[in-house]
Amino acid sequence: MQASSAEVTSNQSGLHPRLARTVLRHLSHPNLSPLAPHNQSAWDTLLPLLQTDGRPLVLDSFCGTGMSTAQLALRHPQHLVIGVDKSGHRLQRHLRNADANYLLLQAECEPLWRQLASAGMRVDHHYLLYPNPWPKSRHLRRRIHGHPGFRDLLALGGLVELRSNWPLYVEEFGVAMHLAGVRGAIRQLPAAPALTRFEDKYRRSGQVLWQYQGRIGYSDHLDTRN
Ligand SMILES: C[S@@+](CC[C@H](N)C(=O)[O-])C[C@H]1O[C@@H](n2cnc3c(N)ncnc32)[C@H](O)[C@@H]1O
Repeated sequence: MQASSAEVTSNQSGLHPRLARTVLRHLSHPNLSPLAPHNQSAWDTLLPLLQTDGRPLVLDSFCGTGMSTAQLALRHPQHLVIGVDKSGHRLQRHLRNADANYLLLQAECEPLWRQLASAGMRVDHHYLLYPNPWPKSRHLRRRIHGHPGFRDLLALGGLVELRSNWPLYVEEFGVAMHLAGVRGAIRQLPAAPALTRFEDKYRRSGQVLWQYQGRIGYSDHLDTRN
């Protein structure tokens, strides 16, 4: 599948009217959906590695072809860097960088976050680079911040970085983080060589790109767990 460079169009003109209600409900209720067999098998691959590799973690969620994962591994040589994407097709198109040490995993991110959080794992850096925007208003729950898995992302902690070509997505994400007690900042992404394939496409088509960064402190985020 080609990465689309089209600007996002949406039937939403501002923050989703049910954003706060949805986020707060998810923060106070654990996500109890069963683990699908393909995600269980990804977890079965990852768990023994986590048990033997003592390095702190960097997660590259929604990594696509893993272009960013390879670059992040070079940026974080002391970390175990893991790229996760549900698309085997995208992952198969990965061009491995022999100088970098990282793992690519085919799985859905949200159940994997839950497994990691339940196992008491924490991450130092969590990259969320150009997740699918799900621009239709009725798809709020498919966005990272509208998904029940948002609570597990928070539990993993770390410096969270989200990038998107849809400013409203980044704004909603920032509001959701704020509701969870995490203070962050949004800015235009400064010019730099592309970290991902989609970033490259968007830049080439002249789009403005947006970045959220916020650090989840283990003590300062609102813990609404039961
Ligand atoms: C717009 S692409 C961005 C890929 C890459 N980060 C980039 O910037 O080139 C979004 C990616 O998210 C993946 N994806 C969508 N939902 C997912 C989920 N729940 N869990 C894991 N991957 C998912 C898709 O397969 C796709 O590769």
